[in-house]
This record gives sequence, structure tokens and C-alpha cells, in this order.
Amino acid sequence: MEKLPKEVSEKRKTEHEIHPLILGRWSPRAMAGEEISDEELMPLFEAARWAPSSYNNQPWRFIYAKRNSADWQKFLELMGDFNKGWAKNAAVLVVVVSSKDFEHNGKPSRTHNFDTGAAWENLAIEGTRRGLAVHGMEGFDYEKARIALEIPADYDVECMIAIGKKGRKEDLPKEIQEMEAPSARKPLKDIIMEGKFRK
Ligand SMILES: Cc1cc2nc3c(=O)[nH]c(=O)nc-3n(C[C@H](O)[C@H](O)[C@H](O)COP(=O)(O)O)c2cc1C
Repeated sequence: MEKLPKEVSEKRKTEHEIHPLILGRWSPRAMAGEEISDEELMPLFEAARWAPSSYNNQPWRFIYAKRNSADWQKFLELMGDFNKGWAKNAAVLVVVVSSKDFEHNGKPSRTHNFDTGAAWENLAIEGTRRGLAVHGMEGFDYEKARIALEIPADYDVECMIAIGKKGRKEDLPKEIQEMEAPSARKPLKDIIMEGKFRK
């Protein structure tokens, strides 16, 4: 994405000029209900792979299911009804988990959640560049995911991601349609502080 789509430029104003891909990433819920190939999917994981992490520990792991696969229903059933209502039209559902300990010495990593957050954003940015809808979710049963996907205790369950071909807003459940737009952000002055913390 070199140029911002109109739906984004109409809704999002920056205080300073930034790359259109960063501003152009948002979280659509309208997905087409079609499959995507590995050629389309794997570059998103590749982008995640190149995120920075403390000691280059790369704590992120991505467990995924493709629609029409044997695992799909198991992943779909992890979600609450709201998310299930639209994410059922995704092509791929992902559960992101993060290793709590460093590989090189077995000691706890203070920043593994932070590192894995960076990897998720890389994935979302690459998906956006490729015209896919990428949407993070916390509305699912974390304990059920641990059991159903056999996630060991030394990994945190972080979030789910729905990835899919973009669909039509009109095909979303009525109550979700009005939410289908890029959102705004707090002003820059509210999130930066020079010298010390200020509320
Ligand atoms: C970790 C995480 C969890 C989220 N959980 C949900 C969710 O369960 N359901 C949902 O519809 N959106 C969810 N979202 C989407 C956020 O609401 C969205 O990212 C936020 O409103 C900012 O909008 P934007 O991504 O379009 O810029 C989640 C996003 C993140 C990063």
C-alpha cells in the first residue's frame, strides 16, 4: 500500500506525516468466507518472524487453522458469540502464544509479551500491504484454548487473529456494520511525556 485508501484518509488524520501502511492498517470485520493459499498466508508469518525481541529470543508462536480444515471448528468454538458472528468468514484463525522464559538460560523474560506484540503488528502490517483483513481478538476462552490446542504452561496465550479476504460491510450482522470503519486515536500530547510521567 503506497497510497491511503479513501476510507482511511477520510477518517484518520495524523499530526505528522507517517508511512501510509502504518496509518492504513485497521481491523475490518467484513471477510469474504473464502480460503487463502499458503502463498498468501505464509508472508504474514514471515513478517512476524522479523520482529525485534529481547536477546533475540523470538518468544512468539502462531498456531493456526485454515477454513475447511479439520481444525477449523475447534478454533472457531474458542470464540465468544460476538467474534464468532463475523470471524466465521475468515480464511485463517490464529492463536498467538508467547514463551515466558529465555531459551538461552531458562530464566523468566520480562518482555516476552511486549516482543510478541511487536510480532503481531508486523503480521498485521504485512497482511494490510497484501490487501487482506487482519483482526486481533481477545474475545475468546483462554483456558479452553490452552487445553484444546495443548499449549504448555510455560507459554502465555496472548490473542487470536482472524485473517481473511475482505468482504462486504453489508453482509455483516446489522449491529456490527456501523463499527466497520477505521478508528481515531488519542492526540499525541496525551501519550508522550518529556522527562517524567504525567497524567
Ligand atoms: C489484542 C487485541 C484484542 C482485540 N480483541 C478484539 C475482539 O475480541 N473483538 C473485536 O471485534 N476486536 C478486537 N480487537 C480490535 C480492536 O478493537 C481494534 O484494534 C481497536 O479498536 C483499534 O482499531 P483498529 O485496529 O481498526 O485501528 C482487538 C485488538 C487487539 C490488538
